[in-house]
Formats: sequence, C-alpha cells, structure tokens
Amino acid sequence: FGQKLQVLESVESTQNIAQSLAEAGAEEGTLVVAEQQLSGRGRMGRGWISPLGKGIWMSMVMRPMVPIYFAPQLTLLTAVALCRSLKRLTKLDIGIKWPNDLLIDGKKISGILLESAAEDERLRYVIAGIGISVNLQQADYPEELLEKATSLRLASGEKQVREAIIADFLLEWEQLYELYQNEGFAPIVTLWESLSLSLHKPATLITPQGVVEGTPRGLDASGALIVEKPDGSQALIFSAEMGEPRS
Ligand code: BTN
Repeated sequence: FGQKLQVLESVESTQNIAQSLAEAGAEEGTLVVAEQQLSGRGRMGRGWISPLGKGIWMSMVMRPMVPIYFAPQLTLLTAVALCRSLKRLTKLDIGIKWPNDLLIDGKKISGILLESAAEDERLRYVIAGIGISVNLQQADYPEELLEKATSLRLASGEKQVREAIIADFLLEWEQLYELYQNEGFAPIVTLWESLSLSLHKPATLITPQGVVEGTPRGLDASGALIVEKPDGSQALIFSAEMGEPRS
C-alpha cells in the first residue's frame, strides 16, 4: 500500500480524488494524501476540519474480494491498524470508540470514513478515508469542538512527523490485511476488543431504526456490535452513533 502515491496541496476531499481514481481503474493500494481539505467529510454527513499542513488527510483504494456486507470489517481493521501504529509511535494511551474513532482521554484524534461501490453483491472498491489530527493547536479548532477533540501534538506536547506516521501505519495496515485475508476476521476482532473503550459500559446507541439502550459486549463475526439489553436479550448494531447512557 502506498506504492502508488499522490500527494496534493489543496483539495475539496481526498475521498473524491481516490474515488475518481478507483473509477478509472486505480489499483489496490493507491493512496491520495493532501496537505489541506476545503470540504473534508466525516461520518453521518458531518464535516472534518483539515487545516493546511497540520494533519494527515488521506484516502486509500482497496479492492477486497469480499461480499458487500463485509465492509464494516475493513473499517474495524483500519481502526485497529491505526490505533496500534499511533500507540507505538507516540506512546500515548489511545483507544477505539466503536466503531472507529480513536480517542485520547475521551477526546477524538482520528476518524475513519469508508465509502464503497458494489456490483453484483460484491465490493468493487472501497475508499478508506483516514483523518489524523497530528499537529493541530487549540486555535485550529472551533470553540465547541475543543471539549471533544484533540491532536497528537496537544496530547503529547510534541510536534509529530507526519511522514513517519503514514509509513508506520501503512506497514501495520498491510500486516493486518494479510492476516485478515489468510485467517479471516476473528483475529481482528480479538485485537479490536483489546483496544476498545466501548465494551462493558452501558451506552445509548442511536441507530437509523431507533434508539437502543444496553451494554456493548463485543463484535460478532460480521463486525456488528453485540449489545446486551436490560431485559437480557441481545441486539446486533451495524451502524449507530454511540453516546453515554441516558440517566
Ligand atoms: C469521522 O470520524 O467522521 C470520519 C472522518 C474522516 C476524515 C477523513 S480525512 C481524509 C478523508 N477525506 C475526507 O473528506 N474525509 C476522510
């Protein structure tokens, strides 16, 4: 991964560029990195602050030979790879909030956005968009985000080298992707669960089908979150916003 690399100065969103490249036949592993995004996209239709030179804003093209419903597994795999790599490099205490936000002290430092195109029930390509707030400082965040977001620099007190992070992450990602292709999703589940901040604590999950209250217990074989409800029954959550429990 990263053998075919495009480094750009200023773009609307690296997702759009990686998507056009994928549509034009770009091979798996093609990576688009930008210094700045003018309209970076987050999950759930939100934006993503991507100031010039302060973070890692990148999108990877994947062409996994798996059915569409395996896409969440790739998101979880990417979160595990990023978490392991950033922990190793920065020695910071970083964990994963389900499904794929990386947090330090409850504040978000990185997010992952997977967008895919499918044909005949199989994935044609997947674009994994990764945003890492590396060297942002307080003034780079709107007031209301400072409570919820931080950067590696703010958390460690040190400026971090973006190239080193990208290189280390790609190596980690490749290793896990190989493990996934050879041994399936089970070893990734084990790693994800060991890094997760979201298990065994009551939570409120706002899903497209409605609100589910319960305690997340782990991931099932497809990557869905297993939530134990107060009546003891289980719910499988594929996509949701996770919040604190309602009091
Ligand atoms: C989230 O947590 O909501 C996901 C954020 C994903 C941001 C990255 S930055 C690179 C890529 N390009 C985008 O427009 N978004 C993703």
